[in-house]
Amino acid sequence: MTHDNTIIHGDCVTGMRNLAPASVDFVLTDPPYLVDYQSRDGRKVANDRNDEWLRPAFSQIYRVMKPASFCVSFYGWNRVHLFMAAWRAAGFRAVGHIVFRKRYASSTRFLRAEHEVAYLLAKGDVTPPARPIPDVIEFRYTGNKLHPTQKPVAALAPLVSVFCPQHGIVLDPFAGSGSSLVAAQQQGRRFLGFEIDAEHHRTATARLTGGVAVAA
Ligand SMILES: C[S@@+](CC[C@H](N)C(=O)[O-])C[C@H]1O[C@@H](n2cnc3c(N)ncnc32)[C@H](O)[C@@H]1O
Repeated sequence: MTHDNTIIHGDCVTGMRNLAPASVDFVLTDPPYLVDYQSRDGRKVANDRNDEWLRPAFSQIYRVMKPASFCVSFYGWNRVHLFMAAWRAAGFRAVGHIVFRKRYASSTRFLRAEHEVAYLLAKGDVTPPARPIPDVIEFRYTGNKLHPTQKPVAALAPLVSVFCPQHGIVLDPFAGSGSSLVAAQQQGRRFLGFEIDAEHHRTATARLTGGVAVAA
């Protein structure tokens, strides 16, 4: 099945089962961090309290990725053991780690939380990019207006540019407000997203079709 430049409303594990194997060039995703997150204004993230979806989702992600391709996945630092176990069980190899540097603290307890993290994961025998980018990337505050954990497009665009071939297709199974797909669109790549929350699905769809101002 081909779904170019679409965001599908629904559960990504079920949805990805309908995708052909080896049909996606690059996965850029920001799954729930498994921390029961609640924003200051009370918004929550679906499936952030249970990890039942974690292994099935990454197993499907691995299946639909082309041989010798990359996945960048954000994760919750205090749930790294769960994420790493799921990535390894799916068949991924960690080939890099990215720190997104914030100029503000998203929370403060033992430390001021001023970074986000993601792993660069490889399926198969990948070739390093001709011009590797730094593994520290500036992360501007989006204001989280479109989603309680909205990522800035500018921080995602270099990853699309380096790890997705020209004319390739970027998949984000946990699209939220669609930031990674906007990055793909801006970089001239095709995109495919899944989002389980109806409101976020509407936001992402509108953003990708020019219905909402593309923030950050
Ligand atoms: C961390 S947020 C992504 C935010 C996104 N990066 C942005 O900038 O807006 C994770 C998203 O995954 C969605 N989600 C959770 N479980 C899902 C599932 N099984 N299938 C599809 N989407 C899911 C949540 O509703 C949430 O919007």
